[in-house]
Amino acid sequence: MMNETPSAPYGGAAPAAARKAVTLHRLRAMRDAGDRIAMLTAYDAASAALLDACGVDCLLVGDSLGMVMQGHSSTLPVTLEQMAYHTSCVARGNRSAWLIADLPFGSYQGSTEQALRSATTLMQAGAQMVKLEGGGWTPPLVRALVERGVPVCAHLGLTPQSVHALGGYRIQGRDAAAAATLRAHAAELGDAGAAMLVLELVPSELAAQISEAFPGITIGIGAGSRTHGQVLVMHDMLDITVGAKPRFVRNFMHGATSVADAVATYVRDVKSGAFPDEAHHGYVA
Ligand code: KIV
Repeated sequence: MMNETPSAPYGGAAPAAARKAVTLHRLRAMRDAGDRIAMLTAYDAASAALLDACGVDCLLVGDSLGMVMQGHSSTLPVTLEQMAYHTSCVARGNRSAWLIADLPFGSYQGSTEQALRSATTLMQAGAQMVKLEGGGWTPPLVRALVERGVPVCAHLGLTPQSVHALGGYRIQGRDAAAAATLRAHAAELGDAGAAMLVLELVPSELAAQISEAFPGITIGIGAGSRTHGQVLVMHDMLDITVGAKPRFVRNFMHGATSVADAVATYVRDVKSGAFPDEAHHGYVA
């Protein structure tokens, strides 16, 4: 007789029951309860479905797709149309994770009106929040978006769209003056209504101070373990990135029985605090 018991999704690595939709309200409650938030990048429907089924809280359609999907050496060539296309693919595969999409280089730097138009394109493609890079000049844009109902994730520290101005992919906020500027920019973005803040490649102590003061949710990447959540580029943690990987990345395929097993381990390790550990803190000053 045929076994008619439905098999658990992804070889048993993902729970069989669908979970409730992750909302901004729920993410804030997680932060308040001290529950760490697990985020990964996704660029297509199949990986979005898998990551969602494995319990990833937030999917980021990152402009890192310019590097991992398109083979560019930076995120600069990615267009708004390409971001909208990948956002719509991810939205079709996703069921319950919170979906964030990057505003790409050149799609918001021109004016508040341009930022609003570009955010509209990504929200209509299925995003629930848009991410933009930089501090100092960005709070007016953030305020305009938030006032019009667009949740915003800011991004400070190593901001890849400014890689040429920053002189490469290097740690930010190392000296006292640079750290003070980052703290001030984070405070201004929080005042402007940014609900989330990605901190990339900053010393863990600075990331902890910013996380303590920021009114929303902080997500670290190469920023130590004392942010409210963690994000990695999916291709990096599955070890399928071409070329060098940043030091803060752990290869979750090591010892995993499947991709879903690797993703489930990432979620578990972020939530338990096992990732990042001492070896994966990134560039701790
Ligand atoms: O584009 C991206 O994937 C990102 C993450 C590295 C945070 O911005």
